[in-house]
Amino acid sequence: MTASGLLGELTGVGADRTRGGYSRHVFDAPERELRTWFVERAQRLGLGVETDLNGNIWAWWGAPGPDAVVTGSHLDSVPGGGAFDGPLGVASALAAVELLQGKGFRPGKPFAVVVFAEEEGGRFGVPCLGSRLLTGTIDAGKARALRDPDGITFAEAAAKAGLDPERIGPDPERLGRIGRFVELHVEQGRGLVDLGSPVAVGSTVIAHGRWRFSFSGQGNHAGATLISDRRDPMIPAAETVVAARRLASTAADARATVGRLVPTPGGTNVIASTVDLWVDARVPGDTGTLSLVEELTGAARAAAEAEGCRVEITRESYSDDVVFDDALRRDLGTWLGSPPELPTGAGHDAAILAGFVPSGMLYVRNPTGISHSPEEFAESADVDEGARALAEVLEKMSA
Ligand code: GLV
Ligand code: MN
Ligand code: MN
Ligand code: MN
Repeated sequence: MTASGLLGELTGVGADRTRGGYSRHVFDAPERELRTWFVERAQRLGLGVETDLNGNIWAWWGAPGPDAVVTGSHLDSVPGGGAFDGPLGVASALAAVELLQGKGFRPGKPFAVVVFAEEEGGRFGVPCLGSRLLTGTIDAGKARALRDPDGITFAEAAAKAGLDPERIGPDPERLGRIGRFVELHVEQGRGLVDLGSPVAVGSTVIAHGRWRFSFSGQGNHAGATLISDRRDPMIPAAETVVAARRLASTAADARATVGRLVPTPGGTNVIASTVDLWVDARVPGDTGTLSLVEELTGAARAAAEAEGCRVEITRESYSDDVVFDDALRRDLGTWLGSPPELPTGAGHDAAILAGFVPSGMLYVRNPTGISHSPEEFAESADVDEGARALAEVLEKMSA
């Protein structure tokens, strides 16, 4: 089946009636439905499927082995996300295998399609959790203890999904099998629209991280408490949101976002006792993200003190700038007739793997330029062009 046909099979799975778009989080019902779909589709192509220690799924064309050519992406989404971020790379990988099989190609190297778990960090907060665990980029104990908004730990959710929580962690043997990795992904900006090209090769991923700011004050009555008597944690929280925007506006190419803010207990006529917010900061270069957050920390502490509140700041994840493998980029460009190269501000499993094995990315044009939102889009013709491009490079890499 074509990549666009395969994607069409996922329409409606995990549709979020409240937020719009799709909410598919690791090991929840829709994500498990997508995993089952992937396993069935891979088996229909004759691939041998296994789930690793960390919940990533591997589908091998032929026997697993060293120097493998690996492609894939993820099936989970952000809350209320689009239909393409993740599933496009998985559907394209399956379609590419079918295209290659259809022309009688047999890989000369081990070959696998992979689905990484919890790429968005939409449930447990740390993005690329499956690839971080595989590579040992996150401490296994820390990962096991991560909690979702309902208080369920990653270890508990993994056990429920059939994994052994004690074995979650680095998997050097499996990682050591990967020779080269390529991830195809929908573009998350307007680069390809402006360049008039359906496909690009990825060049860099900018440094990024997530921090939790927890403000605490005194919960109280919204009518009976004079302004002068309040210790309202929403005030320093709000100042932090504005400071994040101000700091990001003054540093070159910086981005800072507060997309999630949770007041507790959360009543209209209640002064909150605590407010948690999450800052997503991304600045190109080795130090920009960390220094932006350091300045923001100072602003948050000062605002908290002025209101008689406390603030605790926790780094939940951080990744340095990544430049994708030079030789692989050159090869991808040559094989695909020199499509544009694009940097991105979005994180990807390919960027985690890039620290360990030669890795690269292909992007498919997104006419809206919007992502992490229901408006994310790719035309079917471009989707199928992307899968053909992926098949082309996989054929060359695994010949
Ligand atoms: C993942 O898509 C991210 O970059 O936030
Ligand atoms: Mn995403
Ligand atoms: Mn993605
Ligand atoms: Mn991503």
